[in-house]
Amino acid sequence: MSNVNSGILGTGHSYPEGILTNADLEKIVDTSDEWITSRTGIKQRRKAAPDEYTSQFAVRAAREAIERAAVDASEIDLILCATVTPDQILPSTGCLIQAALGANKAAALDIVAACSGFLYGLSLADAMIRGGQTKYVLVIGAEILTRYVDYTDRSTCVLFGDGAGAAILGPVESDRGILAAKIRSDGRYESQLYAPGGGTKGGFTAETIARGDHFFKMKGNEVFKVAVRSMAEISRDVLSQAGLKTDDVKLFIPHQANQRITDAVADLLGVDSSLVYSNIAMHGNTSSASIPIGLDECVEAGRVQPGDVILMASFGGGVTWGGVVMRW
Ligand code: ACO
Repeated sequence: MSNVNSGILGTGHSYPEGILTNADLEKIVDTSDEWITSRTGIKQRRKAAPDEYTSQFAVRAAREAIERAAVDASEIDLILCATVTPDQILPSTGCLIQAALGANKAAALDIVAACSGFLYGLSLADAMIRGGQTKYVLVIGAEILTRYVDYTDRSTCVLFGDGAGAAILGPVESDRGILAAKIRSDGRYESQLYAPGGGTKGGFTAETIARGDHFFKMKGNEVFKVAVRSMAEISRDVLSQAGLKTDDVKLFIPHQANQRITDAVADLLGVDSSLVYSNIAMHGNTSSASIPIGLDECVEAGRVQPGDVILMASFGGGVTWGGVVMRW
């Protein structure tokens, strides 16, 4: 193992122009701005137009990250695209991004880990860079979730939005960058959040489409409890692995699933609310894109300074969860 850490050298994000507000949803399903705001914190979410697709937003976010990292696309060794809403079944969205960027020497693949996808990507990129197998890795979280939302199901359709975030990782000095990363899964909770159609088991026929098998289904209140517990636990794990305490954290960016989940995790960890990033009001839940969009918004707002300890934690369908702590 070489004596380097991996660190984030540049970030970017992108989302569709289209906006779906709570008032718009009030006209579609039996819901209210009051219910959505008080139960989730969401006021609006971005919604892609029918002719827009996931890799377009991924490529825009990636170009921004590449420019800020001052690397050339031809120097990227690996592209990890976290998504549960790929452009198509084959090839991977990662490969489509690789071609669009002209990242001629990069391997490319998709990571299917729902809302934990970006942290799965950071964790794998970190291992590959520290192991000396790659120098520059592009990690992306990109989703068009609104394409898989059933707009007759009020319990899910108010939650999800579209967008993409990206980061270029590369070698940094050993006291900086990713200090600890941990990813986990438990497929026994598959039925908490799933879409049964479209694969070899559920099939993809006129009947499955008419039944809406391709839409996300979620047992929201069950997910809620496991999400809070798992995100708090893995956050403590990575902090202790890095030899740090909650007091050392200058910025906490949790996956943006629900403001109540964010508040409960921050409470359990004892992180002051002023140090917790939230953009849920503007974006809703963008799954794998929520953490990299949040990170890039913090960078753009000057909310992260060199030396700051940043904690990130996620939970998503699978179920999957992850935690990463880094020094900026
Ligand atoms: N408008 C009005 N009423 C609603 C709506 C709505 N949009 N949605 C549900 N309700 C009603 C329900 O029908 C229920 O009514 P009832 O009591 O008459 O039966 C009541 O509100 C309470 O429903 P709950 O599901 O218990 O509400 P809860 O407070 O748990 O909030 C929510 C639901 C927002 C889904 C929450 O549970 C949540 O955020 N869960 C976690 C989501 C998550 O983290 N997912 C994982 C990541 S996503 C990914 O991996 C892609």
